[in-house]
Amino acid sequence: MLNKEAAEKLVDQAVEAHKNAYAPYSNYKVSAALLTKSGKTFTGVNVENAVYPMTICAERAAVVSAVSAGEREFEAIVVVTRDAGTPCGSCRQVLAEFGLDIAVIIADDKGKIHDTTTVGDLLPHSFGQANLDSEG
Ligand code: THU
Repeated sequence: MLNKEAAEKLVDQAVEAHKNAYAPYSNYKVSAALLTKSGKTFTGVNVENAVYPMTICAERAAVVSAVSAGEREFEAIVVVTRDAGTPCGSCRQVLAEFGLDIAVIIADDKGKIHDTTTVGDLLPHSFGQANLDSEG
């Protein structure tokens, strides 16, 4: 688990990215900051579209950015919304691909931390690569 200073730094980075969220339809801005085990941070924001289902969530934007840069090992992700909302089911599944032990820090847009949990706690009984490796 991250120490307090590292968690606060990651929260600051997610709050800083918040202004870049593109949410003209829902008016619900989301930003995320994903810390790799190698110490790099990748941010993401929700990017909405006039064709509503094309929207990408902030958490998945951060994962896509990190994986595109060659990073696959993650320590923690901060998710920032105005009401300290938690990641949606799709984002939980995408994060689970890279580890159930990734810390998930839920914060608001003022930088206040409301909860610290893990992907595994947010997505119990998850489906993953091990299922596909099973014999049947
Ligand atoms: N959203 C995220 O970015 N992440 C989540 O985990 C929940 C939802 C976005 C999608 C959409 O742009 C807006 O929040 C309202 O659903």
